Amino acid sequence: MVGLCFDMYGTLCDTSSVRDRLGAELGVAERLVAAVDETWRRKQLQYSYQSAQMDEYEPFWELTARALDYALAAYDLDPDASTRDRLRSAYDHLDPFPEAAATLDRLSDAGHEVVVLSNGNPEMLDRLASNAGLSEHLDGIVSADGVRTFKPDPAVYGHAAETLDRPIGECRLVSANAWDVAGAGTAGMATTWINRHRDPSETIGATPDTQVSTLPAVADGLR
Ligand code: 2OP
Repeated sequence: MVGLCFDMYGTLCDTSSVRDRLGAELGVAERLVAAVDETWRRKQLQYSYQSAQMDEYEPFWELTARALDYALAAYDLDPDASTRDRLRSAYDHLDPFPEAAATLDRLSDAGHEVVVLSNGNPEMLDRLASNAGLSEHLDGIVSADGVRTFKPDPAVYGHAAETLDRPIGECRLVSANAWDVAGAGTAGMATTWINRHRDPSETIGATPDTQVSTLPAVADGLR
């Protein structure tokens, strides 16, 4: 039995569910909503890498606001501050993927320790896990904030292993983010990549030990 570390954003919860809120608040065409969402998410991740590289840590909640400001400016949108706050709070209300809770339960029942390992700061992760109905299906939540840097910095995967009190090789990252899988494998974790969109593997970092296309398939492979 191992320590299973699930990524949160894009793995257990669907980041594209912010589109409903973007559409309602901005009142723009669906194609523009999709473009803002795509830029928002891309910048949010890029800012986390940059922040780690520059050794200028800011919690993921703040980087999410900065990325939103960039995405809005990129499309000449200028909503007021309270609209921006409501847009950011869509990250507290992401939809869980339909099979998320059942998959976590199956893995817990099989004897694994099941936690979230995310770049989100603890407060935002607690709010999302609670709103998405996932809290009671998890043994814990480990945040990169504990070491004030972001995945794929090896320090974050090491922090998870320490928190779980297991050698890193007895921990497995489960993520739909290919860059996360490459980072965790490089740091010494076992890895499962949920490749929902049949993307090619990353060409830097470790290759995934296991590749599946759905959340339930993670549990099928680890019983
Ligand atoms: C995570 O949950 C950002 O998806 C990334 O850590």
